[in-house]
Amino acid sequence: MRNIVILISGSGSNMSAIVQAAMAEKWSQRWAARVACVISNQAAAKGLAWAQAQALPTHVLSHRDFATREAFDAALQQQIDPYDLPQAPCLLVLAGFMRILTPEFVAHYQGRMLNIHPSLLPAFTGLNTHARAIQAGCRVAGATVHQVTAELDHGPILAQAVVPILPDDSAATLAARVLTQEHRIYPRAIADWLRQHPLG
Ligand code: GRF
Repeated sequence: MRNIVILISGSGSNMSAIVQAAMAEKWSQRWAARVACVISNQAAAKGLAWAQAQALPTHVLSHRDFATREAFDAALQQQIDPYDLPQAPCLLVLAGFMRILTPEFVAHYQGRMLNIHPSLLPAFTGLNTHARAIQAGCRVAGATVHQVTAELDHGPILAQAVVPILPDDSAATLAARVLTQEHRIYPRAIADWLRQHPLG
C-alpha cells in the first residue's frame, strides 16, 4: 500500500475532497494507495478536526517551535518519512499548506510532491491571487495542480480548471467559485498520478 501524506494549514477543504474521493473511488483497491495521515503546521487548523473525525492519523508540527526554516523542514521530513514504509515512496500532497519550503525539502520529494494553487499558472504566483486577477481585468480565473519544484508555484502543470470572473465579483466570491473547481480537479489529478506511477 502506498501512503499519501497531506499537509494543510487551514480549513482543509481540498484535503477532505481528496479523502472522500479516495474512499468513494476505492483508491486502495485500484491504485494500492491510501491517505495515511494529515499534518498541519497550525494546531487550530479546522481540517485537523475533520480528519480526526474520519479516524485519520493527524500530526501538528508548529513552525513557531523552530528557529529556522531549515530546522522546521527537517523536522517535517522526519515526520513524513516513516510513511514511506512499507512500500516507498509515498506521495506528498500540499493542500493549502501555507509555508515556503526549502530547496532541500523539495529535492527530497522531487517528482512525488503535488500542490494546488488558486490561479491559472503561470499567472499570479504567490498570494492574493483572486484580488489580483480582478484588479488586472481578467475575464477568467482558475486553479492549477502542479508538481512542486524549487521555484515557488512553478513546476510541471498536471491539471487546470477555468471559471469566469463576473462583473460584480469580489475576491471572496471568486475564491468560492474557484475552490469548487479545486475540489474537482485535485482528487482527479492525484488519481491520474497514481495511475501513471504504478507500484513495482
Ligand atoms: C486553496 O484555495 C488552495 O488553492 C490554496 O489554499 C486554499 C486552501 O483551501 N493553496 P483549503 O484549506 O483546502 O480549504
